[in-house]
Amino acid sequence: MRSKIDQLLAEIDSLTAVSREELEALRVRLMGKKGSITALFDDFKQVAAEEKREIGQLLNVLKTKAAEHINALRDVLEAKTETSASTDLSMPGHPAPSGARHPLSIVRNEIIDIFKHLGYTVAEGPEVEDDYHVFGALNFPPEHPARDMQDTFFVTTGDNPVLLRTHTSSVQVRSMETARPPIRIICPGRVFRNEAISARAHCIFHQVEGLYIDENVSFADLKQSVLYFAREMFGADVQIRLRPSYFPFTEPSAEVDVSCNICKGKGCNVCKYTGWLEIMGCGMVDPNVLEASGIDSKKYTGFAFGMGIERIAMLKWQVKDLRHYFENDVRFLSQFKTAL
Ligand code: DAH
Repeated sequence: MRSKIDQLLAEIDSLTAVSREELEALRVRLMGKKGSITALFDDFKQVAAEEKREIGQLLNVLKTKAAEHINALRDVLEAKTETSASTDLSMPGHPAPSGARHPLSIVRNEIIDIFKHLGYTVAEGPEVEDDYHVFGALNFPPEHPARDMQDTFFVTTGDNPVLLRTHTSSVQVRSMETARPPIRIICPGRVFRNEAISARAHCIFHQVEGLYIDENVSFADLKQSVLYFAREMFGADVQIRLRPSYFPFTEPSAEVDVSCNICKGKGCNVCKYTGWLEIMGCGMVDPNVLEASGIDSKKYTGFAFGMGIERIAMLKWQVKDLRHYFENDVRFLSQFKTAL
């Protein structure tokens, strides 16, 4: 009996099975009703009393080892069948969902591209600014109501308070302080105003500011640049018109309208039956603004313009509720995939 046990113990590790059927046959051969290990347990009854303890222990070792070996063989077989049955290497891969650029980024990049063709480079400035760069250097006198009109978010109070910039015109000032003419820059960025959020207004929005300073820059240059921009942005047949306006930092100043791209000037509810849509403010840089930043206003002239990116996006896609641009609802954003 002892030799039979020893022989089986030695054999077990070398027993193999290449299929579930073979494994089951092996299990039955060892541990089934008529299996060799089961038979040894039957024979155990005849073992002499003084040997029972030792043989019993050996038998238990054999039984455990056989069970463990069969389980290990089963694990290997199952791992193999899992990969071979469920992995079809010829299947197409899972599509990786692609993102979409935010509509405001699309419009901003388009505006930048258009002005790059005219030789403009991108300039950036801080969003947290001081009063001097947002108002003072732009010819807003100290008592000017614009600071209230523009509903400024103040960070500090005092002589030159720190605030969130209300327009990107502040980047003009920063550029004029460091660069010398010719200056031809386009300044995209976020601006902040203390407005109640609604379909038509938001406390955060985006602007693009443009500035061109050189010798002999005229209002005709401004008008031609704006026309070029409007045609590139809204189509070759678009018309523009300039209405006199007022900004402290430009003189003369104008507001630019484009002919309504929806009704082609006939009148609709988008253009409020005027046939025209306002797209930007502009004007000749006030000599005071040039001088404040150390540029000789006798030698140099320049023009500036500023537009809201949301406004251009609204006109382009007819999305009239501004809040859509800020809520980042994927159902809204994914519609712009093809607009890249
Ligand atoms: N800064 C003006 C605003 O926020 C926009 C603007 C108007 C910018 C006229 C200009 C300009 O450069 O010439 O409403």
